[in-house]
Amino acid sequence: MHSIGILIGGKSEGSNMQAIARACQCGDLPATVSCVISPSSEAPGCLAASALGLKIRVVEPGENYGPRLVEALKGSTLVCLAGFLRLLPADVLAHWPNRVLNIHPALLPRFGGQGMYGQRLHEAVITSGEKESGCTVHRVTEVYDEGEILLQKRCPVLTGDRPEDLAARVLNLEHATYVEAIRKVLNEL
Ligand code: GRF
Repeated sequence: MHSIGILIGGKSEGSNMQAIARACQCGDLPATVSCVISPSSEAPGCLAASALGLKIRVVEPGENYGPRLVEALKGSTLVCLAGFLRLLPADVLAHWPNRVLNIHPALLPRFGGQGMYGQRLHEAVITSGEKESGCTVHRVTEVYDEGEILLQKRCPVLTGDRPEDLAARVLNLEHATYVEAIRKVLNEL
């Protein structure tokens, strides 16, 4: 049985984390969630994680962030970023080579890079006149939003969409997409 360590962000609602955890709990993924790591105990995702009975570790950024993350993730087969907005310390990538995944709420390689998240990202997609957006699951490297693309799903950008409308449509796609990509990666391990 595999085990997945999930890193959420301080403002993360944790919906992707919940989708992964539920898929593990109902047998849709051949894994358990080893722990949910949050940069702050105030993250909304922590509440959701504890409601699901998951182990939560708060690892605050700062000195020795990389080694502290590695310690908290010990025993995980796979590491999944879900709303984690920082560049992942190299120590984690060295311990889990090719085994760190992320979901990005746009069709990479376009609309990626530092600062491309949340409303600003969806605003950029709308402003550029795209007819389609979607989400991308990719392997994580030391560069923001680069790394092998594993799975993409698309949805339309509709006339009159506000960034929040598009964000909601994309988020709705993300959960099943992330689970499908994780299943594929686990089956290949
Ligand atoms: C998602 O849109 C994800 O693609 C991005 O951050 C958001 C996190 O949402 N990386 P949630 O915390 O999983 O609900």
